[in-house]
Amino acid sequence: MSNPKFTTAEGHPIPDPSVSLTLPTIGGGGITTLGDTVLLETLAHFNRERIPERVVHAKASGAWGEFEVTNDISKYTSAKFLNGVGKKTPVLWRLSTTAGERGAADTVRDVRGFAVKFFTEEGNHDIVGNHIPVFFVRDPIRFPSLNRSHKRDPATNRPDWTMFWDFHVNQPESVHALMHLFGSRTVPDSIRRITGFGVHTFKLVAADGKIRYCKFHFKPTAGVTSWSSHDATRMAGVNPDFHGQDLWDAIARGEYPAWKLYLQVMEPEQAENYGRALFDITKVWSHKDFPLIEVGQMTLNKNPENYFAEIEQAAFSPANMVPGIAMTPDPMLQARMFAYADAARYRLGVNYTQLPPNRAICPVFAPFERDGYGTITRNYGGEPNYVRSTLSTGRVSQQAVYNTPITERIERNAILAQNEIQVDDDDYIQPRKFWIRVMDDNEKRLWIANVVETLETVPPQLRDAVAAMFSNVDARIGEALTAKARNNAHI
Ligand code: HEM
Repeated sequence: MSNPKFTTAEGHPIPDPSVSLTLPTIGGGGITTLGDTVLLETLAHFNRERIPERVVHAKASGAWGEFEVTNDISKYTSAKFLNGVGKKTPVLWRLSTTAGERGAADTVRDVRGFAVKFFTEEGNHDIVGNHIPVFFVRDPIRFPSLNRSHKRDPATNRPDWTMFWDFHVNQPESVHALMHLFGSRTVPDSIRRITGFGVHTFKLVAADGKIRYCKFHFKPTAGVTSWSSHDATRMAGVNPDFHGQDLWDAIARGEYPAWKLYLQVMEPEQAENYGRALFDITKVWSHKDFPLIEVGQMTLNKNPENYFAEIEQAAFSPANMVPGIAMTPDPMLQARMFAYADAARYRLGVNYTQLPPNRAICPVFAPFERDGYGTITRNYGGEPNYVRSTLSTGRVSQQAVYNTPITERIERNAILAQNEIQVDDDDYIQPRKFWIRVMDDNEKRLWIANVVETLETVPPQLRDAVAAMFSNVDARIGEALTAKARNNAHI
């Protein structure tokens, strides 16, 4: 549309939306009138521009792209978008920090949310993951407290390391995620070179009905790169929107960021004796025992035309799964399957699935969900608004609709095990391996420095508790934290 003429939102022509109608008064100035509905509408709409921001993961960047299958994994899953080498599926990607609000800086030390919506012929499939492979809590009831402890003190309204550590030393199953949080990957220098993990264990269901367990991994084709802590902090001040700009500019230049998608797959027989790590998101699966299997490549090739419409209004949910991929008894996954749609209803309204970034591209027929604020579809016209109608044009499938078959023994045992999720040495084995085998001497030194920095303003007994918690990972960490803290003039 070239040179459009302004109208009101209802389409009435208006000569100039930048000038209010005023009645001239003696001595200059003017009186605005209730008759100037353009002025009234302009101010009234402005007052209503803000919607609730996401309670977590509010600051983000996003882009559109495409996923292409590069390896035949049809023996593992019937999911159509993962079947057929060369098959392409449109995607929407949203990459966020966790703790900061909508205007917060991009480059802070934090876990990044890595959310992908695949618009498939069988409905939307979302992987709503993070950029580190493990999470801080395994009981969903602790999730709100976890996030509050990383956000703002209720009195000072400032982030506060005392409440951060106070929370974590009292629920040390977070120790593995903390090892990652204070490493180098949580200060990425570009979100184009960042890993992504589905984190939870999901179930793959093959066309022959066979079930396997799996984890999703995204690896950037350009490799992973990070700032130093110092450079990341500096950039947070220089350009708080650095990561978003870096992504946008690269896509605008035609340098499309890409990720390979991989699966780790576990057979039910292996799952039988795998123990707690099967459905516990504070743990990873060994790559030696469960090597990565390539699935395909995601390439981002289109910037949003409008951030609010396409990225802010996007609503991802781990409950969005296509046939062939199913939930497991991980209590965190179960809780999340409620939380996201609920958050979207609050944030975007009950009809958020009709908004452009969330609209499925396959036929949707859900006449049992209709009306409500902001209905923008045909609303199923005269279709019966009750189920079991013989007059409905819809058909009831003879197939079991909920594609969540259960491998009875494994999952029942897992549910029983979840009743006793006390922290024990089992929780320190993987962090210890991470410290000893994955981190080199330089990374260890930086890790200690990163943690010590956060302890400067923390009360002494809490500092001791932090050192004691990490001593369970390796006595040398506890000793180093204590020694460093002692030598530090601020403490
Ligand atoms: C965002 C809840 C655990 C990754 C959110 C939102 C809520 C939420 C309410 C905001 C959603 C919105 O307003 O649209 C929870 C609960 C959890 C949990 C209750 C545990 C019980 C996790 C875990 C991960 C994760 C384990 C990663 C594996 C994300 C991501 C977003 C998000 C990536 C941003 C999604 C987007 O881009 O819109 N979470 N979360 N969350 N969460 Fe979680």
